[in-house]
Amino acid sequence: MKRFSVVIATALLAVSVGNSAEVKRGSIFGSKHNLSVSGSGEIKSSSETGVCIFCHSSHNTSSDGPLWNHQTTVPGKFKTYERSTMDSKPEQPNGATKLCLSCHDGTIAVGAIRGLTTPLPMQNVGISGEIPQERRSHIGTDLTGTHPVSIKFQPLMAAADQHLRWPPFDPEKKVGLDANGYVQCTSCHDPHNNARSDKYPFWNKSSFDDVCNVCHKY
Ligand code: HEC
Ligand code: HEC
Ligand code: HEC
Ligand code: HEC
Repeated sequence: MKRFSVVIATALLAVSVGNSAEVKRGSIFGSKHNLSVSGSGEIKSSSETGVCIFCHSSHNTSSDGPLWNHQTTVPGKFKTYERSTMDSKPEQPNGATKLCLSCHDGTIAVGAIRGLTTPLPMQNVGISGEIPQERRSHIGTDLTGTHPVSIKFQPLMAAADQHLRWPPFDPEKKVGLDANGYVQCTSCHDPHNNARSDKYPFWNKSSFDDVCNVCHKY
């Protein structure tokens, strides 16, 4: 617990002393994940000035993620990606995927942080404070149209499929599996950095293919 507080404090410090152009483009501050009143996106708070607070805090946080401060979505209700061509079977959202879907499945208010009985008021959200259904960022609970997530990538799968690369390899160590060996939303996206690609949001690399090629080969 203590260690994480230090890590977050250090990350904040690094951000605040960074070169301002880099901060604007590179960090979370100039991105749609700055949900504070100073954010540049359409969905943002009406008055809250904190940036990290929508996802992290330093006390009374949940064990669902690192110092996690957002109400977490309940797995079980998701329709997972299933196709006969697949060697793997996606599980109900776990790991970081569960954290992302806590806003992006559209069932929980964006301002629903822990310890509040009513969510923080936000601009341009739905009737219950959620990401509105008509927005592209509303992924919903049907994940059949999203790259399979919360799947454990195992060597046997690559042995059965010549287009899968085992082990996944990224010299920059930005793309890959989580600590438990799962493919998650974070295999492709970095929720803190929207600067690596001009085209793809919160992309882990500068090009589209550089992400896919870590695990796939053609
Ligand atoms: C919109 C949600 C969101 C916001 C806002 C956010 N984070 Fe995170 N953060 C995450 C998620 C999700 C993870 C878990 C990533 C994972 O498990 O791979 C994470 C992980 C972390 C970690 C653990 C190490 C790592 O990078 O995985 C640190 C440290 C961190 N965030 C710092 C911050 C700081 C500092 C801020 C404010 C400047 C911030 N975050 C804002 C979503 C967010
Ligand atoms: C606290 C709520 C919250 C969490 C948690 C969260 N997001 Fe978001 N995210 C948002 C909001 C709000 C937007 C802006 C949506 C819009 O404008 O339609 C957004 C936008 C995005 C975008 C689109 C950015 C763009 O420029 O179009 C991506 C990609 C994204 N999030 C990925 C993720 C991933 C991956 C995670 C987990 C690692 C995550 N988000 C966690 C609230 C959240
Ligand atoms: C295999 C890579 C990959 C994975 C895994 C992945 N995404 Fe994405 N995501 C993309 C790409 C590419 C785009 C931009 C193009 C598009 O919209 O299809 C995108 C776009 C988005 C957007 C912006 C909406 C839009 O269509 O413009 C959001 C929000 C988002 N992703 C969230 C998530 C969440 C949440 C997860 C986990 C449930 C996830 N992504 C998993 C590749 C991925
Ligand atoms: C971290 C590893 C990883 C990354 C990065 C990744 N994938 Fe995947 N992908 C997988 C795994 C594992 C499967 C499941 C394969 C299976 O079960 O047969 C999969 C499945 C797929 C499938 C479905 C195959 C089917 O049979 O239905 C497609 C299509 C795909 N990936 C394309 C992409 C693209 C495009 C990108 C880059 C935007 C990407 N992947 C990035 C690991 C990854």
